[in-house]
Amino acid sequence: MNKALRRPLIAGNWKMNKTPTEAKELIADIVPAVKDADNCDIVICVPFIDLALAVDMTYQTNVKVGAQNVHFAPNGAYTGEISAAMLKELGVEYVIIGHSERRQYFGETDETVNLRVRAALDAGLKVILCVGENKDERLANITNEIVSKQTKLGLADVATEALANVIIAYEPVWAIGTGLTATPEQAEEVCSFIRRVIAEKYGTDTADKVIILYGGSMNAVNARDLLAKEDIDGGLIGGASLKAKDFSVIVSEANA
Ligand code: 13P
Repeated sequence: MNKALRRPLIAGNWKMNKTPTEAKELIADIVPAVKDADNCDIVICVPFIDLALAVDMTYQTNVKVGAQNVHFAPNGAYTGEISAAMLKELGVEYVIIGHSERRQYFGETDETVNLRVRAALDAGLKVILCVGENKDERLANITNEIVSKQTKLGLADVATEALANVIIAYEPVWAIGTGLTATPEQAEEVCSFIRRVIAEKYGTDTADKVIILYGGSMNAVNARDLLAKEDIDGGLIGGASLKAKDFSVIVSEANA
């Protein structure tokens, strides 16, 4: 099975939650709770102001740190933005790019997503590129069209060698924060389709190695069935990543 070629990954997306004081408490609970998970990668994607303390607190542990966005310019007059080099120097290893909330509320387009992906990869960051259809698009039966377009445009001008640092997160917008999880079959169908889209462009050898996550109301109860699917290599977890216990249960399911 090709799944064996891929190391599972569980990433928490804290979104705009946790002040530095609160972040310290949560990280202090997460680190010991997941310390024995040797068979999967663990990432916490925290707000910008929590990044430095997250990097410090996870030093020499199996927990890696990610940001939730990055600007594409190397530096300059972009008030309020953060560059890839800034993240890299801080010790951040991952960055989420193109989350549906960024697309929906902050005018992110496939073109700006692509610029960010390339800037992050050039700086040596690992990218978690988010794709996914909204409810209307699913009802209109254009899910494949949407995720194919987002995947292709998001990865435009990204070389095959760089794909080792690209993770795709399939997050159906209708499942995010709604408690309405995609069924394992629905999630698998789209994740395997995404792998085929990648194979068309980069070949099957490369596509077989790409980590594809599911995200959207994944929790301690439904994680096992989702993670059992052939093309679902892990999860991008919102709400449940804010509770150390729930997050560690999901990690142990991925680690099993
Ligand atoms: P929830 O797990 O809260 O549905 O959020 C998913 C998500 O958007 C992760 O990026």
